[in-house]
Amino acid sequence: MTAYDAKFVAPPAMPELFRQLDPVPRLLMGPGPVDLYPRVLRAMSVAIQGQFDPQFTALMNQSMALYCGVFRTGNAQTFMIDGTARAGIEACLASIVAPGDKVLVPIFGRFGHLKVEIARRVRAEVVSEEIEWGTVFSPDRIEDLVKKHRPKVVAICQGDTSATMLQPLAEIGAICRRHDALLYVDCTASLAGNVFETDDWQIDIASSGLQKCLSGPPGIAPITFNERVVDILKHRKHVEQGIRAPGVVEGNGPIIQSNYFDLAMLMDYWSPRRLNHHTEAASMLYAARECALVVLEEGLEAGIARHRLASKALRAGLEAMDLTLFGDPTHRMSNVTGIIIPKLIKDSERVRAEMLNDFGIEIGTSFGPLHGRIWRIGTMGYVCAKPNILRCLASFEAVLRRSGYAAPAGKAVDAAYAVYGEVAA
Ligand SMILES: Cc1ncc(COP(=O)(O)O)c(C=O)c1O
Repeated sequence: MTAYDAKFVAPPAMPELFRQLDPVPRLLMGPGPVDLYPRVLRAMSVAIQGQFDPQFTALMNQSMALYCGVFRTGNAQTFMIDGTARAGIEACLASIVAPGDKVLVPIFGRFGHLKVEIARRVRAEVVSEEIEWGTVFSPDRIEDLVKKHRPKVVAICQGDTSATMLQPLAEIGAICRRHDALLYVDCTASLAGNVFETDDWQIDIASSGLQKCLSGPPGIAPITFNERVVDILKHRKHVEQGIRAPGVVEGNGPIIQSNYFDLAMLMDYWSPRRLNHHTEAASMLYAARECALVVLEEGLEAGIARHRLASKALRAGLEAMDLTLFGDPTHRMSNVTGIIIPKLIKDSERVRAEMLNDFGIEIGTSFGPLHGRIWRIGTMGYVCAKPNILRCLASFEAVLRRSGYAAPAGKAVDAAYAVYGEVAA
């Protein structure tokens, strides 16, 4: 470094400042992010292209088609929002909810609260009901709430990682149609690891992220929406002055409050018109496209079965250690498991720190009412494989023992082996 450069870069004690990036390898078994499929990492190192290059627009179109498969939809409007999963949530809610519209949010974990927060910021009238974390809503309860509040939009999570539960959705779309409400679903944590049927379940609009079962990097959010949503967007369409071309038809509804998350403009950007909006995050698009390819090449059903098997093996191992699992067993996600922290453990963070520092395995803490009550272990995407489950259980057993919780030695790994159909000779 020259003296000229050093003028502002004068670290008091940062010897690593100019070292090449080379983090110690980890196995990410928290509630997300998780390790990337190596193919996805490779795809991200491909040269970027301009967003109007026909080569690149072809990749955009391919990504749209691939995500129709992942979301299981025929929606023409299936594309990406640049930003983490909450960017997808914000784009959906900011674009369909006008100030004063009523939004109903059934809350069964932290990410229900996030939807309340985002809906409030777009000046919705928000009504919500929170149930105990670790449980889910019955369709009847949702219908009662919809009848009572008559919302324009029902906004709900499929899987809420904070509470590890999977909300059944199959009947909720029909309920919303009966009462003339739109259904928005956040499937960030569940897509590709649990069954998700956009069209069959009559979900009007949904958004996701890559960093869970799709095993990609956080930073781009696939979304999909149907013609009911397109009608709303047309009504609210307003095109930026600097790119407005003759013949553009604008709506006379309330303008969408966000420019970046304006789905009406984004539809034009992702359509053959390619009306300029932002500079597409090319490397993230490559990642998203590759994630979808991996998922569809494996086959959605096979991938979901792999997630189920891995969590079954993990849970069998944990129970063999006499640990208690969190939440309603009939509604657990197949990719995140909550473990009640035994009373004997005085310092639950020490357990996580030793998993990380001594075994290189990240497991999750918890939020809100569950803070300090459960650990969370994720089995998602690339990580969701037998060697990782066995590694995690063996390490967990050792770390727990060091904290004074002596589980029956070896039983956890044996129980997991048994789920994989392998019993010791
Ligand atoms: C269900 C759900 N929604 C939204 C998010 C927010 O995602 P991000 O941190 O990528 O914005 C998460 C992250 O864990 C999630 O699990």
